[in-house]
Amino acid sequence: MKVLLIGSGGREHALAWKIAQSPLLDALYAAPGNPGIADHATLVELNVEDHAAVIAFAKEKAIDFVVIGPEAPLVAGLADDLRAAGIATFGPSKAAAQLEGSKGFTKDLCARYDIPTGAYQRFKSAEPAKDYVRAQGAPIVIKADGLAAGKGVTVAMTEAEALAAIDDCFDGAFGAAGAEVVVEAFLDGEEASFFCLSDGKTALALATAQDHKRVGDGDTGPNTGGMGAYSPAPVMTATMVERTMKEIIEPTISGMAKDGNPFSGVFFAGLMITAKGPELIEYNVRFGDPECQVLMMRLKSDLLPILYATATGTLDRVDAEWRDEAALTVVLASKGYPGAYDKNTPIAHIPEATEEAKVFHAGTALKDDRLVATGGRVLNVTALGKTVTEAQAHAYALADRVEWENGFCRRDIGWQAVAREKA
Ligand code: AMP
Ligand code: GLY
Repeated sequence: MKVLLIGSGGREHALAWKIAQSPLLDALYAAPGNPGIADHATLVELNVEDHAAVIAFAKEKAIDFVVIGPEAPLVAGLADDLRAAGIATFGPSKAAAQLEGSKGFTKDLCARYDIPTGAYQRFKSAEPAKDYVRAQGAPIVIKADGLAAGKGVTVAMTEAEALAAIDDCFDGAFGAAGAEVVVEAFLDGEEASFFCLSDGKTALALATAQDHKRVGDGDTGPNTGGMGAYSPAPVMTATMVERTMKEIIEPTISGMAKDGNPFSGVFFAGLMITAKGPELIEYNVRFGDPECQVLMMRLKSDLLPILYATATGTLDRVDAEWRDEAALTVVLASKGYPGAYDKNTPIAHIPEATEEAKVFHAGTALKDDRLVATGGRVLNVTALGKTVTEAQAHAYALADRVEWENGFCRRDIGWQAVAREKA
């Protein structure tokens, strides 16, 4: 099979690494890719926003299957256009991608199909949103409706903070994504991400993971795209997995199909495990980044036939097998992230991969043959271990061998699971 992978982050490096191990693979291309992905794929300079150019390239190279990593091309309808051109594609349609592209869309779906989630209202202007906040009181959560690179959410512990967040959204802090605002009840509990494949009819549960959204140790500071993750998430016991499938995932898949937007691809539910059980915080219509890195480390099965079955409506014929070990990834980010940071800072050394550990590239480039950091989140140091505690020790030992002066990382990724393992 000839495969084209779309994307350039750590998630796509992990996907490329795993797809490259498939005996079914004849050739792997990545657009635009990154220097880490270049170890497994031929990089192609394609403007992914130019759907006609992507289709022309796929035809020219006789690509059998396109795998789309990030949300932006999905929300822009790249999967629809590729499928219309007769090319098998992993990734949801533009209509189904609204599950991530519009928080209001997802909240309305939850309301229609009785999916447990926090009480909410949608607003198109500031004053009624503020009145609602004053009536509800804090803590309360303010969300820009659209895609805001993981930064459009304010968990407001005070009313003043909530009112300021509403002004930020409507004053354009998140551009068009903030033209509508969702105000949502604060959910208290432990978070987990639940990954699932769907071909529109069948759902196949993959694995669970836990992300670390805040930039600082002890879950402090502003939200980021994710500073580290581990899998499995111990809070997701067998009972919680079963309840999540029944109460959240299955009604979503059948509801989307009923509404005329069948969902095909991977999605993950951001869950809050509250005293009542699993409640939906949000959906994402792609693999999480950096959660994908830990899932790929743990996946024993060949990834390619699983993705292909998802895209071609035969998910009921495949299964996914997982290693029993835990995997943990630490994000090395540019100093200053998620605020302003220097670009093109040199990375002097990245340690070699072993069976049990690997450094994925997320925001790197080659400049005059030297590896430099170009993004906020730059490297994902990922390791396996018999326990999360062991995976954490392996990951930090490897992270400490990366030579990059402008980098920093959280030192406590996995703390909740480590505390559980100690107890
Ligand atoms: P989201 O982008 O919707 O995942 O939100 C980012 C983060 O904000 C989540 O991972 C949670 O930590 C937090 N969050 C979002 N919604 C809520 C909520 N209703 N209650 C508590 N925390 C929330
Ligand atoms: N790490 C969170 C996400 O990919 O949305």
